Formats: sequence, structure tokens, C-alpha cells
Amino acid sequence: MPDGRAGAVGDHGGVTTPTSTQVTLSHVMNATEANLLGTIHGGNIMKMVDDCAGVVANRFAQGPAVTAGMDEMTFLTPVRVGDVLHVSAQINWAGRSSMEVGVRAEADRWDSVAPRVHVASAYLVMVAVDADGQTRPVPELSVETEEERRRFREAQIRRRHRLARRDEIRTSRGEGGAA
Ligand SMILES: CC(C)(COP(=O)(O)OP(=O)(O)OC[C@H]1O[C@@H](n2cnc3c(N)ncnc32)[C@H](O)[C@@H]1OP(=O)(O)O)[C@@H](O)C(=O)NCCC(=O)NCCS
Repeated sequence: MPDGRAGAVGDHGGVTTPTSTQVTLSHVMNATEANLLGTIHGGNIMKMVDDCAGVVANRFAQGPAVTAGMDEMTFLTPVRVGDVLHVSAQINWAGRSSMEVGVRAEADRWDSVAPRVHVASAYLVMVAVDADGQTRPVPELSVETEEERRRFREAQIRRRHRLARRDEIRTSRGEGGAA
């Protein structure tokens, strides 16, 4: 296994594909999750997004993984009380200890059988840690389909931008450069 990474459990040939990491959480949104306008508070949607990304990352990493960051998340349309929110996530990219998880939130309207509405999308960086909170290696991710390759490629671009931004800010504070 390259870079001394462990092989994944429950996969084929010791590697895991992004598609095989997919998890969906579904929840009927209720009145306690509403904002002053009566629609669902964005923070409750973000919580489901983070929960789902966490499940995906923990399963892939075969142990605990923490959220290191979430990219900009745009809310495209309000979710209403009674709507069924479906949050789906999968690993897009994996490095030594970090992973990018792609998440898409869609809603089934409670009062019609119209097609699902795209509510929001987000990318999260999750990092596998041990019991002491130290980073640890994750298994290898094997991209097979054209779609998986596209997501992997685009995740690498986002990662370069995230690290460049972090390093530039550190440098501007006189804290030194790249980690
Ligand atoms: C996330 C955390 C473990 C990273 O620790 P660290 O000492 O900065 O670790 P490193 O600098 O070695 O980075 C670890 C990995 O994360 C990546 N990483 C760190 N910061 C990043 C950022 N801003 N964007 C993208 N990737 C980042 C590194 O590139 C590295 O990836 P790799 O191992 O795949 O090459 C640490 O900052 C932490 O514990 N944060 C708190 C997490 C938390 O409490 N979350 C909320 C509850 S789940």
C-alpha cells in the first residue's frame, strides 16, 4: 500500500471507491428547527451536512475523523417545516490524513410529489485523528469512473487553493509559511 496507508475493510481488492463511501441522511424537518420566518434555520441544515460528512469520513477512515473546515455553503432555496431533507455525502479525495467530503442537500416537499429540490452543496475537509487527537493515515481511495476522476481532480484544485490561502494568511501574520 503506498505511503504506508492501511487497506480498507469491506471494499474490493483492499481499496475503496468514492461511490462505495456514499451515505444519505433523511429527516422530516420540524417546527423546532425553524427560524423567525417559519422556514428551516440554515444552521440546522449545516448540522445535518456536518453529521453526514462525519459519518462518511469515520467509515472511510476506520475510526474518528474531525471536521477541519467547510467551504462556502450557499443556500439555494428555503426548506419548509414538514419537508423531508435528504443529505448525501461521499469521499471525493483522500490524502495522508485528510479527506474532502462532497455533500449535497435536497428536499422532498411535504405537500407535493414534485421532483426533489436542490437545497445546498458543500465541501468539507475532514482529518483522521487518533485517541490523542494526533493525525493518522487514512486508507487509499481508488477512483474508477469518469465522474469519480472529475471530482478527485476538482478536489485537488480546491485543496491547493485552501492551503495557499491558509499559508498566505499565516505569512501575513509573520507566522511562517507552508506546513
Ligand atoms: C484538524 C486538525 C486535526 C489538523 O491538525 P494539524 O496539526 O493542523 O494537522 P496538519 O497540519 O498535519 O494537517 C493534517 C491534514 O489536514 C490538512 N489540512 C490542514 N488544514 C487544512 C486546511 N485549512 N485546508 C485543507 N486541508 C487542511 C493538511 O494538508 C493535512 O493533510 P494530509 O495529511 O492529507 O496531507 C486540528 O487542527 C484539529 O484538531 N482541529 C479541531 C477539529 C475540531 O475540533 N473540529 C470540530 C469537531 S469535529
